[in-house]
Amino acid sequence: MERCADWWVREPEGMPGRWRDLAPSCKTLWVEVGCGKGRFTVETAAANPDMLLIAMERVPDAMVVAMEKARELDLRNVFFVDIDVARIEDCFAPGELDGMYINFCDPWPRKKNAKRRLTHRGFLEKYSRVLTPGGQIHFKTDNAPLFQFSLEEFQALGFPVQAVTWNLHENGPVGIMTDYEEKFYTLGTPIHRCEVTLHPIEATEPAYEKSEDGENSAEERGEA
Ligand SMILES: C[S@@+](CC[C@H](N)C(=O)[O-])C[C@H]1O[C@@H](n2cnc3c(N)ncnc32)[C@H](O)[C@@H]1O
Repeated sequence: MERCADWWVREPEGMPGRWRDLAPSCKTLWVEVGCGKGRFTVETAAANPDMLLIAMERVPDAMVVAMEKARELDLRNVFFVDIDVARIEDCFAPGELDGMYINFCDPWPRKKNAKRRLTHRGFLEKYSRVLTPGGQIHFKTDNAPLFQFSLEEFQALGFPVQAVTWNLHENGPVGIMTDYEEKFYTLGTPIHRCEVTLHPIEATEPAYEKSEDGENSAEERGEA
């Protein structure tokens, strides 16, 4: 972690309202949720020098790999926080974000774990409060049941959905791929994607608050 100290924001709870000071020349502020090993993170930051990108990842071992990539490219518009996105409202001020990327989040296939899905309405309500009115979520997954569930959650909260595709790369690769996406694309698995426009809403039900590392098996998260 120490080698990447310049890219690591250790105390994001002290940052609400101050993120743009990290890169004052950037015009927009986006978050990537669950960046993993960071291929999408660094390629997106490199391709969009006007965007300040904050990557949130709750597994430090994965985040270190991502930070090393940012360090190798000496990117100055991307920073990393090791925190559960359930705490996003501790990190960002209301309306501070322009957009969020959610890429290949764990599907949590069992119904009893639905609240842990990062597109469950409990999470969406939190995102809606840190996003500026009209802020965007760009969502990708290989998991069809999760995609269907997510579309229904967006609709239930009244968030307009655009650019829906159930097979993003049908006619060849489109956009910047994540590490997981590259693997699924190589296997021929269709990638689902959409863009969502949010407006702030108050909580309608208790949200999932904490996801302990190792508390649940990869099978329960839907990875296995
Ligand atoms: C299936 S991996 C996908 C990684 C990357 N987005 C990609 O597409 O290659 C999901 C990632 O999200 C992270 N993650 C899952 N739940 C999270 C949460 N509540 N807060 C922050 N990160 C989370 C995991 O640690 C993991 O690195």
